[in-house]
Amino acid sequence: MNDAAGHPHLQDVAAALGRAGSVVVLTGAGISAESGLKTFRGGEKDMDSLWKQFDPMTLATPEAFDADPETVTRWYDWRRLGCLAAEPNPGHTALARIEREITARGGRFTLLTQNVDRLHQKAGSRAVVELHGSIIEWRCVGCSARTVPPPEPFERFPPPAACCAGEPLRPDVVWFGEMLPASALHAAEAAMAGCDLFLSVGTSSVVFPAAGFVRLAAASGVPTVEVNRDPTPISGLVRWSILAKTGDALPAIAAGAFGVG
Ligand code: OAD
Repeated sequence: MNDAAGHPHLQDVAAALGRAGSVVVLTGAGISAESGLKTFRGGEKDMDSLWKQFDPMTLATPEAFDADPETVTRWYDWRRLGCLAAEPNPGHTALARIEREITARGGRFTLLTQNVDRLHQKAGSRAVVELHGSIIEWRCVGCSARTVPPPEPFERFPPPAACCAGEPLRPDVVWFGEMLPASALHAAEAAMAGCDLFLSVGTSSVVFPAAGFVRLAAASGVPTVEVNRDPTPISGLVRWSILAKTGDALPAIAAGAFGVG
């Protein structure tokens, strides 16, 4: 396995994964960075991360959409097309493999993601809970019916919903000030009950409620792991902190737990 990369806890984490019966993984934008998608805050070095280039209050709130639906829709359409063009990287693929290995031996695996890009599903992950929705699906502002728009730029801004005359489509993502989908929160809580290994992967761990899960796991005595390129507020709280790129660390952890393949 890739211990040569200098990650002292890889062996411990691989061994814990090899034993675990009920695994929860939380991912954030860092895991998709190696697929070419921008993070939101990133690390100190990431001057092109989204919230350093754009003001979220003018783009990612219901009030922003009400005030200027065209600008908000153009921005989300630009990101939607970027997500559709992106391909999963070895970090995504490793998580899909870990799920297959654990479920094949009768264990439980749940992938909670804050990402809206659908790259986990594209990599083959199945038990994915989208805490912040999806940028690939859009929904009618009038009746909430969901649709997957074709992979071309929208022709009109905002695009009209097919179901309710005069109502626009909006991205099916969670904006600042909005609640997380109740079904996603319930699925996350069900996964947390009985979890015996928790991994926090590629997230700055500052946005709640998602950032609360690792803290809950640690407070409950569940072994916790962080895989992140840069230190975060939870780095000192987890049992094993692996400061590495997810595309390097996750395949090495999977190989250590389940063998090369
Ligand atoms: P952030 O941009 O806040 O954090 C990404 C983390 O990934 C940072 O800690 C980076 O250091 C790390 N990182 C970058 N590249 C990496 C790599 N190759 N390997 C490992 N780690 C890497 O993104 P999130 O934590 O996902 O919410 O942000 C949480 C939420 O804030 C998002 O879901 C979004 C945003 O506002 C909504 O839109 C509702």
